[in-house]
Amino acid sequence: MSTTVRVDLGGRSYDVVIGADAFAGLRRLLAGRRRIALVTQTDIDALHGKIVRAALTETGAQVDTFLMGNGEDAKTLATVERLCREMAAWGLLRGDAIVALGGGIVGDTAGYVAASYYRGVDVVQVPTTLLAMVDAAIGGKTGVNLPEGKNLVGAFHQPIGVFADPAVLASLPNREFRCGLGEVAKYALMDDDAELGAIVRGRSAELVAREPATLATVIARCAAIKARVVSADEFERTGVRAVLNLGHTVAHGLETGGGYGLLHGEAVAVGLVFDLELAAALERISPATAESARALVAALGLPTAAPKGLRADDLLAIMARDKKSRGGLTFVLPGPNGVERVDDPDPVAVRKAFAAIGVES
Ligand SMILES: NC(=O)c1ccc[n+]([C@@H]2O[C@H](COP(=O)([O-])OP(=O)(O)OC[C@H]3O[C@@H](n4cnc5c(N)ncnc54)[C@H](O)[C@@H]3O)[C@@H](O)[C@H]2O)c1
Repeated sequence: MSTTVRVDLGGRSYDVVIGADAFAGLRRLLAGRRRIALVTQTDIDALHGKIVRAALTETGAQVDTFLMGNGEDAKTLATVERLCREMAAWGLLRGDAIVALGGGIVGDTAGYVAASYYRGVDVVQVPTTLLAMVDAAIGGKTGVNLPEGKNLVGAFHQPIGVFADPAVLASLPNREFRCGLGEVAKYALMDDDAELGAIVRGRSAELVAREPATLATVIARCAAIKARVVSADEFERTGVRAVLNLGHTVAHGLETGGGYGLLHGEAVAVGLVFDLELAAALERISPATAESARALVAALGLPTAAPKGLRADDLLAIMARDKKSRGGLTFVLPGPNGVERVDDPDPVAVRKAFAAIGVES
């Protein structure tokens, strides 16, 4: 059984297939291809490479595996050059396909290889982390890091399909799973009809225990929200796509400041509580809504407060530096018109929101 979410982009539309038989869909989509390059990492290959390669081989294509390293240090132009050269040596042509099997690191890098190689070949995303299933694999943002900054070189290159089998998440290290839960909480709080929030609240224990059916329901709902946003603003031009940054302003501040021992998803969780408290302090939402958001984050086992000893001035200085190019502070906050961008909110409300996540003035 699987659920399909359509990413509606006219001629570039594609399906995100979520469920136990997602890889059968992968086989059907790529049937008839001549060659398929599978890009992955050694650990993921050992865990999940066999089943995906079997599906790809059943298409009748010649399949070869191209390995890349782990972590942000491997998401580089050097990796892109090496992968492109290996694919050229193997004889991959424009009508062939690339399959990215992994988390956001593999997806972003292989996606950028696909955007560039032969000026663009088809890519299929097979996400293996919760973060990639709900976020990175959908929407066509690809790219790599430079020493000067993260994701500085990249391209919009939509996949032709995304195939997510929640069963692969069983092997995901706990800290990586938590990173994905931070993004799930974000979608739950930006969901207009509150359906995802109700599922997450009602089934948080199953979700944290990685029960595949619950995961499939939650991932499908998150994917539908991301698909809707991407369809409305494919190239991040109208500002609609910025709503995906809910919780991320303070999260970036916490991370840029050295992480303070927080993982990305945990920093996002704290950032979500901050944003909802800020929205309440600005009277955009009720205090009860902010309180309920805090409860949702807590139900996922994520932190709702910043580590002790942090000062608002220090974080504000980091956040202002972070946003130097635009000047001032930008948040995306819920309100009567849904989630929208708010520039330079009242400093008194900002301090109140900091206090609500345990950050001293
Ligand atoms: N393109 C986008 O729209 C977008 C959105 C969000 C994040 N990102 C990018 O995604 C990256 C982070 O991605 P991530 O959080 O998925 O991390 P990741 O890709 O580094 O994966 C985390 C770790 O888990 C391992 N792993 C992956 N799947 C596994 C599995 N099923 N079982 C066991 N181990 C597994 C990986 O080898 C890796 O060591 C960042 O570079 C970020 O910039 C991109």
